[in-house]
Amino acid sequence: MPLFINALEAAAHRLSVVPPMFDYFNALGLHALIAAARMGVFDALDERPSTGDELAATLGLDPSSTTMLLRALAGLGYLRIRRGRYRLTRVSRLWFTTGSATSLVAGLEFWERTACVVWPRLEKTVRDGSPATPFYELLENDPELSRSFQAWTAAVARRQAPATARAIPVPRGAGRVLDVGGGHGVFSMALLRRHPGLRATVLDLPRALDAAAEHPRLTLRAGSFLSDDLGGGYDVVLLFNIVHGLDDEAVAALLPRLAAALNPGGTIVVGDQFGDSVMPGRASRTLLGLLDLNYRVAAGGRVRGFAEVSRLLREAGFRRPRHRRPLRSVTTELAIAETRRR
Ligand SMILES: C[S@@+](CC[C@H](N)C(=O)[O-])C[C@H]1O[C@@H](n2cnc3c(N)ncnc32)[C@H](O)[C@@H]1O
Repeated sequence: MPLFINALEAAAHRLSVVPPMFDYFNALGLHALIAAARMGVFDALDERPSTGDELAATLGLDPSSTTMLLRALAGLGYLRIRRGRYRLTRVSRLWFTTGSATSLVAGLEFWERTACVVWPRLEKTVRDGSPATPFYELLENDPELSRSFQAWTAAVARRQAPATARAIPVPRGAGRVLDVGGGHGVFSMALLRRHPGLRATVLDLPRALDAAAEHPRLTLRAGSFLSDDLGGGYDVVLLFNIVHGLDDEAVAALLPRLAAALNPGGTIVVGDQFGDSVMPGRASRTLLGLLDLNYRVAAGGRVRGFAEVSRLLREAGFRRPRHRRPLRSVTTELAIAETRRR
């Protein structure tokens, strides 16, 4: 969560009255958030708003340090105080309690590892352009990290999937969906719920499928979309949060293979964050810039604008790429296009 600074604080920063340490404090905020979620602070406060001392007694923590942690979390906007007791905000209830369908708690290990292991290698990436890690190889070889990554992406997908499924034009009579790198299967499941005649196949690396959804009309297929046969006869292909993790060569090689796997007139839906959308403000633009760098350092990819994705789709043989923003946010934008009808 961004630090909330007022005009006076912003001026003090501009005039260099204070050293430029906001980035350092943002990093501390991440650790405060992760520690709190792991220790069950949000779950406990959801059950019973508490003072620092009460919460410390409930969870067996140090009272004075617990109070400091709660004060810091309130400053970051994750808690509020009423009549001396800390309680959750809507944001923390939605994302940081374990009982919420969009809980990020199981995904926090992934954030921590990315911040502490991947990002310290940024210099190397900037020097030679290569990612810090063979990211998906790393996940395949580390079951806990893979579980945490899937938990994080699944939580975000659960928030986005219903609106996204409504925005996807499933052709009349469509029978088969291929969810490329679909991992947890949340986007496929949302389509299956909406369209009782559909069957979906999630193609992903073996470890990623460990925690995937189960459904009689959902098939999980372990394999690589880079090197394995994609099959054919699909009516819809989902390519969600995949393009940003690939280099230009891999994207250019993948899209024509997906076109060939679709029936004539079949639909591809690319879901991603497109950098050329209208941004509501400077904070969003800054976050998108950091996300761009994150995709490069973690996986060798980058943010691609709708204009570029649209061009790549046309070059791969798709028609009429359209831009949709089902949640009116930049977190999931869609590029929808069709293969030619014969
Ligand atoms: C950022 S996640 C996106 C997951 C899901 N599509 C979503 O939008 O929430 C990328 C997914 O691609 C999978 N993946 C990466 N490289 C792959 C490959 N070569 N073949 C198959 N799946 C791959 C990962 O395992 C992971 O599940």
